[in-house]
Amino acid sequence: MTAVQNVSFGQHYTVRLPAPDDFAFWRERARQLVRCDVPPDRVSWVEPGGTGDLFAQEAPAGGDKRLPLPDESAPHPRASKRFLTVAANAALHSDPQRFALLYRTLWRLQSSPKLMEDGADLDVRRIEELAKEVRRDSHKMHAFVRFREVEDAQGSEHFVAWFEPDHHIVRANAGFFMRRFANMNWSILTPCGCIHWDGETMRESGPAKRSDAPQGDPVEDLWKSYYASIFNPARLKVGAMLSEMPKKYWKNMPEAELIPDLIAGAQAREANMVDAGALEFEDKPETLDAIGTAIERCRKCPIGELENRAVMGEGPRRAPLMIVGEQPGDQEDQGGRPFIGPAGQLLDEYLERTGIDRSETYVTNAVKHFKYVQRGKRRIHQSPGAKEIDTCRWWLEAERDIVKPRVILALGASAARSLIGKTVSISKVRGEPIALEGGAELWVTAHPSYLLRLDGDARDKQAAMFAADLAAVRERLEEMEDVS
Ligand code: URA
Repeated sequence: MTAVQNVSFGQHYTVRLPAPDDFAFWRERARQLVRCDVPPDRVSWVEPGGTGDLFAQEAPAGGDKRLPLPDESAPHPRASKRFLTVAANAALHSDPQRFALLYRTLWRLQSSPKLMEDGADLDVRRIEELAKEVRRDSHKMHAFVRFREVEDAQGSEHFVAWFEPDHHIVRANAGFFMRRFANMNWSILTPCGCIHWDGETMRESGPAKRSDAPQGDPVEDLWKSYYASIFNPARLKVGAMLSEMPKKYWKNMPEAELIPDLIAGAQAREANMVDAGALEFEDKPETLDAIGTAIERCRKCPIGELENRAVMGEGPRRAPLMIVGEQPGDQEDQGGRPFIGPAGQLLDEYLERTGIDRSETYVTNAVKHFKYVQRGKRRIHQSPGAKEIDTCRWWLEAERDIVKPRVILALGASAARSLIGKTVSISKVRGEPIALEGGAELWVTAHPSYLLRLDGDARDKQAAMFAADLAAVRERLEEMEDVS
């Protein structure tokens, strides 16, 4: 840790945040405290209205005269991009412990720079959970704010909406509404502060009550055109839409009459968008880290809306062999790594027996989120649909562009589809390489979880074929090495 002269032993500090969503303020003070080597258990983070530590040195909101100052030579703290992205969202959560959690994690990152990749770490998991809940709240705000028209004191039209967020997301989403309704005068009233736009400037004011907002029907035409313009077919999630906005309420919503047509046209529009490369993430990320960050936010299909995390592929950036599975299972979702559950253990066993070193192989999945249905406490695996596989293919291709494997081994039909673009029968395509665009060679075999479901002779037979497929891949890699 850093060399610091001015932190007395055992000193506690309280940092008072000027606003509950002031991530920039937290970030500055956190950097200062890390540079001064102040461990997490000696800092209290207090948001407006919260109580501090009676015996602490106080840093008044907006001023930090009593916080220690770092030595000029003290190194600047390191924080991965991934941490900063997730932390900026998590900081907007209503959990009073969030700033302490973020500081503890920033502190730990100094000695474990890869901490954010440890999906089993409780702090990392909690930050990701907070960030996810905040994203969901923002999504609700975008989807459910309803403007009503009123006349202001000058007799001009003004649009007012009431919204009750669960987290401190209002200011962070002001830009979204400003861009959507740039030419209107509008106000969004909430119990934790309001935002107002007059076509030129954004203004904030204190909390409002529901009774401050006009009642009555939302402005139909305005709302319909807004809804049609924000409707992104690539994000069409009928399941999520039905659970958040049950059909029985549609009749009260002016935009509802558009929904059947929009859904009907969605597939065609999505295909056009994919062709035009205009899906939500316009530019393919150029590093594996960037893909890892982006897939966490991906909602191109409904699987990302479930209570799960995105599981990124892992392995060397220039691995000669890429192994592609179907999707993370329950254990992969919890651990944040591909193929670590029962199917992964079986795969590891066969790889080892065949002489393929997993640590030199890039292992990933066709679909990056775990698809399941909840039965009591259990999450039961559901195979991804063709459309979900095809949508997620965008990410697999981004991984392929970077890793540039010479050989790809697809485990099972979903993986094969994500590479060939159509459904094939494993028994017909196994044992022979398929040339892929871009130069890689594709080999297809069964998924190890298929072997786990069999027993007796059937299992022995499939296991022998699986071992033979892996051996063929190893030989092929050796041949390629010999000629290069
Ligand atoms: N099955 C898969 O296809 N992938 C995993 O990561 C785990 C199980």
